[in-house]
Amino acid sequence: MTHPATDSRFFREQCYIGGEWRGGAKTIPVTNPATGETIGAVPDFGRTEAREAIDAAAAAFPDWRARTAEERGKVCRAFYEALMDNQQTLGELLTLEQGKPLAEAKGEVAYGAGFFKWFAEEALRVYGDVIPSPWTDKRIIVTKEPVGVVCSITPWNFPNAMIARKAAAALAAGCPIIAKPASQTPYSALAMGVIADEIGLPKGVFSVITGEAAPIGEEFCENPQVKKITFTGSTKVGEELASKAVKTMKRVSMELGGNAPLIIFDDADLDKAVDGAVACKFRNAGQTCVCANRILVQSGIYDAFAEKFAKKVAGLSVGDGLKDGVDQGPLIEEKAVEKVERHIADALSKGAGLQTGGERHKLGGTFFQPTVLTGVTPDMVIAKDETFGPVAPLFKFETEEEAATMANDTEFGLASYLYTNDLGRAWRMMEALEYGMVAINEGILSTPVAPFGGVKESGFGREGSKYGLEDYLNIKYALFGGLGK
Ligand code: SIN
Repeated sequence: MTHPATDSRFFREQCYIGGEWRGGAKTIPVTNPATGETIGAVPDFGRTEAREAIDAAAAAFPDWRARTAEERGKVCRAFYEALMDNQQTLGELLTLEQGKPLAEAKGEVAYGAGFFKWFAEEALRVYGDVIPSPWTDKRIIVTKEPVGVVCSITPWNFPNAMIARKAAAALAAGCPIIAKPASQTPYSALAMGVIADEIGLPKGVFSVITGEAAPIGEEFCENPQVKKITFTGSTKVGEELASKAVKTMKRVSMELGGNAPLIIFDDADLDKAVDGAVACKFRNAGQTCVCANRILVQSGIYDAFAEKFAKKVAGLSVGDGLKDGVDQGPLIEEKAVEKVERHIADALSKGAGLQTGGERHKLGGTFFQPTVLTGVTPDMVIAKDETFGPVAPLFKFETEEEAATMANDTEFGLASYLYTNDLGRAWRMMEALEYGMVAINEGILSTPVAPFGGVKESGFGREGSKYGLEDYLNIKYALFGGLGK
């Protein structure tokens, strides 16, 4: 059964390379995870087409970088407006390919659009410096220049926003960018190609290429014309890309895996903590890098929290994201469901208790029941490995020090959350947590105006905020000598 969004002008089954729409003989089918039906197919392009996109971007670079910041900002603003004007259709397309509830999908389109709005304005603020000179006859200035051709590789969990936050910063900085979306969710990316085309971006400044990740990624990493790789995805793939990219000393930004702790202290506001934990854990069915993977609850509030939280989670409605009132859509694919099942089975076999859920949903396919486990301990797989699904494991702790130690006991360091009404404790914990992001008394922290990114094996580089632009700029130091008479 087709959906009206697939009849819209945004539904493209061709790639946008160097300003041309191109189909291919070999294709990759795309499935609606809610129904298992094939939505359509997109080109299975490889190294040759990736090289052509890079050539086009390299050719477009001199003109794009030479535009004024105001001109580039206007283009970003036009991108923002086009996304917002078409939020409903783009949201539907996103739900069709990704599965998240339509309200979340539309929220993601607005979130993605927000990066274009933000960087439209930041484009105007790429300031340099004048450094006081140690010499009487010389002057030192610092300017910032676009790094050059950027290639991005993005995941299926946020098919619009992960591209938007890279593309908006790149375009604002003066860099052409090539987007390689995940094969499960290419349509939102191709729709952005339609927007780039319609708002009149010069040929080659924004391209979208679909196909197997390995050959395209290799071309991106090995081609000397590419000056920056920006990747969101698993730590394993991030390591491979970074090690290839270093051979030609490309700039690299990596937004990788997480194992986010959400810590609830005895003095927290219970209702706020429950609401925040549900929002944090079950957003996108638990398929985000910043979802709480471990919920650490202090012993004095543990039972009360577990009861209220499990009751709320049991009330979440599961279904096709295009239907009204759905809180949680399907998981992206069968492999994801199997991982969730493995984590639950391991925890239960080691003594965890099941408060709600725990099984595949009666709707079948890749639908899974929102699940809460209690009595979870650090020896269980779920404590170490990112579940990326709708399972909330509750750990117990006694002291602030123990909470910090447990929270930091991971190689990852992306997002962390804590609930407390004690200001001193909030501050101490904020400093103690080895994470790139800490939210206090909030379960959702993402916004285009703040720096998103991690430490440790969660990667490096920041997206959004004034810092997000720096990743696309090189610093140039110029010494003006011979000023003496
Ligand atoms: C992610 O899961 O990688 C991104 C989530 C977000 O931007 O909030």
